[in-house]
Amino acid sequence: MKGIILAGGSGSRLHPMTLAMSKQLLPVGDKPMVYYPLSVLMLAGIREILVVSTPADQPHFRALLGDGSDLGLAVDHAVQPTPGGLAQAFLIGAEHIGHDPAALVLGDNIFHGPAFSDLLVENAKNVDGCVLFGYPVTDPERYGVGETDSTGRLVSIEEKPARPRSNRAITGLYFYANDVVDLARELTPSARGELEITDLNRRYLDQGRARLVDLGRGFAWLDTGTPESLLQAGEYVQTLQSRQGVRIACVEEVALRMGYIDADSCYRLGARMGNSDYGRYVMAIARELG
Ligand code: DAU
Repeated sequence: MKGIILAGGSGSRLHPMTLAMSKQLLPVGDKPMVYYPLSVLMLAGIREILVVSTPADQPHFRALLGDGSDLGLAVDHAVQPTPGGLAQAFLIGAEHIGHDPAALVLGDNIFHGPAFSDLLVENAKNVDGCVLFGYPVTDPERYGVGETDSTGRLVSIEEKPARPRSNRAITGLYFYANDVVDLARELTPSARGELEITDLNRRYLDQGRARLVDLGRGFAWLDTGTPESLLQAGEYVQTLQSRQGVRIACVEEVALRMGYIDADSCYRLGARMGNSDYGRYVMAIARELG
């Protein structure tokens, strides 16, 4: 399965923080926001990843992630000239996807929960259509919303409905069969001129090929859309990390645990940042697991 991180957009709700800097590079806790979605793809076993960003921000993503080889990944970079919608990622990423299934994760989505890697790996297998991940929220009208029948089968998907049919938000992580590129090509822009991911998902639903996986109560799916929620996400990460002594979305640790790099390489990555707590943590993990 190939991965795409969509990290474009204008981040206008975070102005002036995002006037000169990509939203997805702002810090959440002790690391750039994009580390969180990157670690999600890595935990799903995905190593070929396309990062889609704005023309202005692309150099920064290249500087941060390079070609991914440090993490045992193959990272490519592409630009989205203007925010043409989430589903445009599949047109931009068509060549990258090739003949494989694809995972899309939004660069501002933060997930954290128990046995997440197992859940991801399990659901990334044999995707025949689309797999969506649902999360209960108190304000579903702000998101894509999925409704299921009494057997748990997905029956409707709506984008930011005024009167939501359920409290299940559709999160910004999506797994698709290879025909996602063809289906995305058939979409027409919505009223706001965007290729909407919800329209794409509805195509799969109409074909009886959409599945919703619920992220249970033990999960955290955090918003970073406003200054307040960005701060809360940082506080969540900081609280857990300082209480437990483990780090969320430490991509070097994920790469080591997933077997993408060895302990020596991991140690060297930490040593490069040895002046920070983060770097020292990476070195300690490499020593512990080496
Ligand atoms: O976060 C999950 C939600 O993401 C889903 O529940 C919704 O169904 C989905 O439409 C989306 O809603 P948002 O209101 O969060 O979409 P937004 O337009 O804010 O875009 C989400 C992120 O993707 C944001 O960080 C900017 C980036 N983006 C957005 C667009 C439209 C791009 O990189 N390119 C784009 O063209």
